[in-house]
Formats: sequence, structure tokens, C-alpha cells
Amino acid sequence: MSRYYLTTAIDYVNSRPHLGTAYEKVTADVIARYKRLAGFDVHFLMGNDEHSQNVFKKATEEGFHNNPVAYCDRMEKQFTSVWKALNCSYNDFIRTTQPRHRAAVQKLAQAAYDAGDIYEGVYEGWYCVSCEAFKPEKDLVDGKCPIHPTLTPEWIREKNYFFRLSKYRDRLLKHFEAQPSFLEPEIRRNEILRLLDAGLEDISMSRAGQSWGVPLPFDADSVVYVWFDALINYATAVGYGTDDAQFAKWWPADLHVIGKDITRFHTVVWPAMLWSAGIEGPRQVFGHGWLHYGGQRMSKSLGTSVDPMEAAAPKFAPDAGPDPIRLYLTKEITYGSDGDFTWERFEERYNVDLANNFGNLVSRVVSMADKYRAGRIAAAGDGGRLADVAGAALTRYRTAMDAFALHEGVAAAYELIDATNGFIADNAPWKLAKDSANAARLDAVLFEAAEAVRIAAVLLQPVMPSSCDEILRRIGAPVTGAALRLGHAAWQPSGERTTVAGAPMWPRSETASSRREIIVSEPAAPAPPPAPTAVAPAPTEAATADARIGIEDFLKVELKVARVRAAEAMPKSKKLIRLLVDVGEPEPRTILAGIAEGYQPEQLVGKTIVIVANLKPRPMMGTESNGMVLAASGPGQPPILVAADDSLPPGTRVG
Ligand code: MSP
Repeated sequence: MSRYYLTTAIDYVNSRPHLGTAYEKVTADVIARYKRLAGFDVHFLMGNDEHSQNVFKKATEEGFHNNPVAYCDRMEKQFTSVWKALNCSYNDFIRTTQPRHRAAVQKLAQAAYDAGDIYEGVYEGWYCVSCEAFKPEKDLVDGKCPIHPTLTPEWIREKNYFFRLSKYRDRLLKHFEAQPSFLEPEIRRNEILRLLDAGLEDISMSRAGQSWGVPLPFDADSVVYVWFDALINYATAVGYGTDDAQFAKWWPADLHVIGKDITRFHTVVWPAMLWSAGIEGPRQVFGHGWLHYGGQRMSKSLGTSVDPMEAAAPKFAPDAGPDPIRLYLTKEITYGSDGDFTWERFEERYNVDLANNFGNLVSRVVSMADKYRAGRIAAAGDGGRLADVAGAALTRYRTAMDAFALHEGVAAAYELIDATNGFIADNAPWKLAKDSANAARLDAVLFEAAEAVRIAAVLLQPVMPSSCDEILRRIGAPVTGAALRLGHAAWQPSGERTTVAGAPMWPRSETASSRREIIVSEPAAPAPPPAPTAVAPAPTEAATADARIGIEDFLKVELKVARVRAAEAMPKSKKLIRLLVDVGEPEPRTILAGIAEGYQPEQLVGKTIVIVANLKPRPMMGTESNGMVLAASGPGQPPILVAADDSLPPGTRVG
């Protein structure tokens, strides 16, 4: 079995983790779990960075002046309890105050010294304690560190040992050229290449007159600079300096998952340190983007810091556990770019992606299996169209996940979920169940829907491990949990399954539904629409009193969800736009809609709308219009389309 060693950055422990730091750990955990699913022997490392001046300062403020390690012990408990609440599956948790790390730091520092790459000098310049980094004058903005503009950098002049980073510039350039995927995503690589092009200066690797840190093996009056110390954690954890056999097994690391602010340390300084000590550099580094809160940088002092514990047990779904936030962080943010979090958006996505979509699908499939087949379903046929969709989703998922496009991997799984919803709507098992002549077809439909749900749960297992295991159990999957492999995501056209009914996986959030009801009740109910579009005039009191219809009349109107595939203005018409819409049928329909006063055609493509689907086709301006879109407009106002939730597959019945 191939091994895969991945790590996250190790966190400063001067404050508790926030959702931004948690974003990194969750996404790295998704990668670790995906690699296990793909059959790798995975070693996943997380940890804490303790030898920082800020940590020492905080420990002192908290009354731990004589024993900062005791403060770090306390913080370790807080950090690990957050990571456990988020279900992070790390194999090892390192702390830089551990004896194993001291041994590794001293060994590597000595090796670099012996290689002639460390020399004594005097450092004079600015230092940002929050970055724990020396700041060249040219990088300051109005005399302040651009990342920490509220703090004034310190001017320091002290004896330092320097690491000959400049010596490695050419080798680094060659390395970047030979290994284009060494640093992902591409935008980060370009940043570092520009930096290398500009030339490299040697860096300070020690601090004088401090006791908090690992003493230099060749000068006990100085300690190793916190970044030089921290980077070595990745080697420490797999035995460097303490266990050669272990180190030989796991080094080089396959992947460091880190934030975009610290790519220079990981892709320039770290490989050079390793090369200096005669060790191979890491294979790959992924520099993810930053998570913001409501568009602002996450910061405790600004009140924009989100507690990951709260996100793992949100008020609107207190029993749902960490899977909804794990899904949000993975699905809603293009991995590698910055992303945003708000509680409102989180709740909305929970209702759309989990309560209404995946959760509802699981409930429907299990309850239909229960109702029509007493919970026993058996394979019949080869799976047809849904099996093809599942095969395509698996291929897309693998490609995306292998390239760390986690958001696309999740989207591939959701394509299968959407198709399964459409499949159920098209096949209407409740209609098949009415006639025993359809028994074989009903067997096939139930099994195929359950099989598609099973595959979606396998694909989403790295993102939502507990929920997907529960879904697999309910759907009667033969393999679940840690035994699951990517091979199990292939369509299995055989066997018998026993489904297990249960309470809804993700009950709809009440707070969101009350908000939604207000929105829905605001616009007037559409009156019988004038052709060619259902642009509803505002109702009058008389109309509501006299023109009421019976339910049987309403049921004659077939309202369906449709997705706009193409749109173009009709020549010679100020009002009409020609739409090509997907209504879940084999061919898209053409509909002429009188909405040109409200929309440009290009705004419409991709919109999910509602149409009247059983209207007789009408020839208009040389085109046949096949249905009618629903839109509303106030007096003198341009029409606004009635939108449907994007998660609803085309063809879904409305009403
Ligand atoms: N201790 C160093 C890393 C040393 S690794 C050898 C450090 N610590 S940190 O606590 O400041 O940050 C830890 C990680 O969290 C970094 O990768 C950083 O980029 C990431 N993040 C901090 N805030 C973040 C967001 N708001 N969003 C996403 N990641 C964030 O740097």
C-alpha cells in the first residue's frame, strides 16, 4: 500500500482557534480521508506552535510566567477538543515543546551548521511579533506591518546566526521549474517565482537573550528562531532525530496544507533548510485561501471571529454535528481562493443542500423501500441512465479530488444526488406501486435510487464522515466506515439490501423557514396569467372575492421547475425573449417569454425558474412556444421571474 504523509500548519496557541484556522484543518482532513478512501496508508499530522514570543507573552499575562509549558498544556486541550468536535482524523498531534522536537531541531540546526550554511552576524531591523518575522523596511506600510497594521513593529539589534538562504536560490528556481505542481494553486506559485526572481537574502535563524525556545546546539546563549524551529515539526513527527526507520518510511512529506500567508516559509525556506541538512524537500505544498466573516478578516478584536465549536453545533441544527459546517467549508469555497462565511448563508446552505436535497432524498428512498417492499430491495437490471450518471460523477470526483479541487469533488457528488431526485420524479414510484403489473419496474427503480444514494454517500464520506456512514447504514450498503474504498463507488448491479428507516438526517431549520415564509407571502399570488407569460397583475380585492377556483382546477395546471439553458432576444420585439429551458425531459423546450423589459438574455442563462408545463403549444412570431414562464410585476414595474431553488432538479413538480 502506498503511503501518504500530509500535514497542516501548526497553530500559535496565544488564542483559541477560530473558524479560519479550523478551515485549514477541516479541508486537510477531507484530503486525508479521501486519500484513505483511495487506498493510501495515510499519516496525518496536526499540532501546535508553542515557541512564539506571543505565546510566551500570553502565558505570562495568564499567570504562567514560571511555567509557560503549563499554559501550552491548557491550550492543547482546548485545541484538540475543537479538532475532535470537527471530527479531524489526525494520526499524531505534535507540540514544539516536546522533547522529540527539541532533538530534531538541534539535529537539523547542527547539520546546517556543519554544512557551513550558518554563520554569526548582527541583525538590525524591524520585527513584527505577530508574524514572528523580520520585516524589510520596503515591506512596511506607513511604518506598520501590512498584516498587523494595529501593531508597531519592534526595532531590534542583536547578535544572530544567519542561514545562507541565498545559496539555494538557483536550486529553488530549478526545483520550481522541474516540479510545476510543487506549489499549488498556480497563483501562489507565480508569487513565489516573482520573489525568487528578485533574489534571496540570508535569514536570521536565532534569537539572542531569550529563554523560550530550543537552545542552539553550537551556542547555548541563543535559541532557534521560532519559524526555523516550527518548520522542523514536520520531520520531528515522523522520527527525525529519534527514529531513523520511521523517518525513512514517511519522509519526504507528500503534502503540506497551509495558508497563503506562509507559502514563502514552506516553499523557499523549508526546502533550503532540508537540503542544507542533506534531506529531501517535501513533495507538495498547497496554499489555501483565507476564510472571512461577512467579507471581513476574521479577528477577535474586530468581533469577526467565529467559534468553530458553535459552527460544529449550530443553533439552527444543534444535533447535526460537524458535518454541515464541513460541507459548507468544502463545497462553498473554491479551494485555493478566499471564501466567506456568515451564519445566514450557512443556514441557507444547510436547508438547501442537506435538509431539502440529500437528506430528503435519503428519507424518500428509505421510506419508499419500507412502504412498498418492507425494507428489502434487490438489484434488477444494469442501472441504465442513473448508472451512467454515477460513473461520470465518480470520474469527475476522482479527477477533482486528486487535484485538490475539493469544491468540484463535492459538486460531482451533488450532480448524482440531483440526477437521482430527477430520476425519482420521472419514474414516480408511487404511481408504479398502484399496479402490480409494474412490480419489476418498481423493484428496479427503488434499487437504482438506493444504489445512487449509496454511491453519493461513498463520495461524500471524506467530507461528512458520520452522516455518510449513517446514510450507508440506512440504505443497507454492504460496506461502510473505515473499510470503505473508492472502488465501492462503482455501480453494483447485484445483491439484496435491507434498508433501515430513521428520523430525518437533517431536519429543516425552523428559523430559515420562518424567514422564507415571510418572503413567499409578500408577492401576490399569481392570477390566471395573460399569454404569453404569466406576468401577474397585482390582484384587486374583487378578484380575490369572485374568481376563486377549486383545487381540481388548480391541479389541472402542471407547474414545473426548469433551468434556462440559452436565451436570446427576439428580433422585432421589445418584450419577448426566446428561452431554451431544461424541464427534465429528453429535449429542452423553447418558450417565448415577455420579460425583455426586466432582463438581458445573458442574465437568464443558468436561472432556475418555474413554468406552466402543460400549456398547448402556441405559434408566435414564427416560433412555437411550448409552455409559459411564471413572472411577477408590480404596476409599471418590469417583470421579475419566479425563481426556484437551484437545488431542485429540472422537471420537479411545483404545487
Ligand atoms: N505557527 C505558524 C505556522 C507554522 S507552520 C510550520 C502560523 N500559525 S497561525 O496560528 O497564525 O496560523 C495557522 C494556520 O492557519 C496558517 O496556515 C494560517 O494561514 C491559517 N489561518 C489563519 N487564519 C486564517 C483564516 N482566516 N482563514 C484560513 N486560514 C487561516 O502561521
